[in-house]
Amino acid sequence: MEKKRYAIVGLGGRGIGMFAKPLVTEYADVAELVGFCDINPMRMEVGNRRIGKEVSCYTDFDKMLDETNPDTVIVTSKDCTHDKYIVRALERGRDVITEKPMTINDEKCRAILEAEKKSGKTLKVTFNYRFAPYSTKIKELVKSGILGDIYSVEFHWYLDTIHGADYYRRWHGKKENSGGLLVHKSTHHFDLVNWFIEEEPEKVFALGSRRFYGNNREAGNARCLGCAKKDTCEFYWDIAANKGTKELYLDAEKADGYIRDGCVFSPDINIEDTMSVLVKYDKGAQLSYTLSSHMPFEGWDMAINGSKGRLECGVAETYYERDARKLSERTSIRKSIDRRKAAEGDQSSVTTDTIRFYPMFGGVEVFNVDRVKGGHGGGDERLKDMLFRGGIPDPLDHLAGSWQGAMSIMIGVSANRSIATGLPVNLKELLKGDA
Ligand SMILES: NC(=O)c1ccc[n+]([C@@H]2O[C@H](COP(=O)([O-])OP(=O)(O)OC[C@H]3O[C@@H](n4cnc5c(N)ncnc54)[C@H](O)[C@@H]3O)[C@@H](O)[C@H]2O)c1
Repeated sequence: MEKKRYAIVGLGGRGIGMFAKPLVTEYADVAELVGFCDINPMRMEVGNRRIGKEVSCYTDFDKMLDETNPDTVIVTSKDCTHDKYIVRALERGRDVITEKPMTINDEKCRAILEAEKKSGKTLKVTFNYRFAPYSTKIKELVKSGILGDIYSVEFHWYLDTIHGADYYRRWHGKKENSGGLLVHKSTHHFDLVNWFIEEEPEKVFALGSRRFYGNNREAGNARCLGCAKKDTCEFYWDIAANKGTKELYLDAEKADGYIRDGCVFSPDINIEDTMSVLVKYDKGAQLSYTLSSHMPFEGWDMAINGSKGRLECGVAETYYERDARKLSERTSIRKSIDRRKAAEGDQSSVTTDTIRFYPMFGGVEVFNVDRVKGGHGGGDERLKDMLFRGGIPDPLDHLAGSWQGAMSIMIGVSANRSIATGLPVNLKELLKGDA
């Protein structure tokens, strides 16, 4: 079998770890990695060192396509640049795999959908959370019809003081780069809901504010490195302490000025940290969703309510068993402990996640799903198999395309519009450019 040729644009943490390395190792029998493209040549060199190969590096995307001739381009650059590479790759007759979010606003989204239609090529969006065995089980249960007609979804996502804080240190903290967390992060969550209930979002209303990060505290230095508040700030992060982040970001910053350890209290941060969204779906379901990014633990809770009962689910991702004001200390005690069990004195690591089905007139049925190794609840590994190895059956429609990418980001884009105007937003009109 002839190997498929892949090129990657955007050689940051995700491009290297999720795609470059696996393509030259576990998928080397079916894939050939032929080119890298990034605005920072130093980061591409790190990529090559990490994968132990000499993949050709380019700062000019068209030149990379001309000289390396990939079948598929994998887009893992900064969110606001995805559209440029997706559209160009499609125009140049390549298939595309893009990291989430597909893009960050309605105009770019329209351009992508049109380019794909014209090109006859395909765009896939890597919604890895769908592939986690736990999400797959929820999908199976909802699809089996045990809930009957879906009436509503309650969904709360919590980000902690390590992972959550990290979004405010770099490009994600500016809406013009990431679309804010309702696009950058919530695209995962909105996609899960859309996929679970098989309805399309129609109307969106949202509230959002910045209560903790950004200009809510006096910033120290513009970045952690060399900051006078090093010993007192709970968010001081030593970028040089870890060899990996040092070589990928600190050492490479002279080539493009990308500061990875910016102050989380920088007055330049313009994204919200506390958000609530209401969504009305086309077959009548309602979603109420919150994203809280300054939380003492990480994880999520969801309930799906239908005519025949209620499904309760959720995952405890991180918990800190004691007060640890220093980030380095918190990092060392960060564990996957269920906060509710911890409150009862049980601090054992979670090995199984539970789904509870409450039928309408009484009783409860419990489904346990064992945790598996791998990124994003084991989703990353299963997604890659589906992307790179042909012939894997997909009865639950795990693999997402441009329309699913659009439907998930457009909830966030509509929510951003609603936050700015104070009004509900008709999502499909906004997508058409009619709003
Ligand atoms: N699915 C997931 O769970 C998941 C997890 C992490 C990241 N991501 C996504 O992967 C992408 C990369 O994230 P990351 O954490 O690796 O970020 P990163 O900042 O580490 O890397 C981004 C890379 O893009 C490059 N870049 C910036 N502007 C560019 C441009 N104009 N042209 C080409 N390259 C450019 C940067 O030089 C850098 O190498 C983002 O879209 C992010 O949302 C997805």
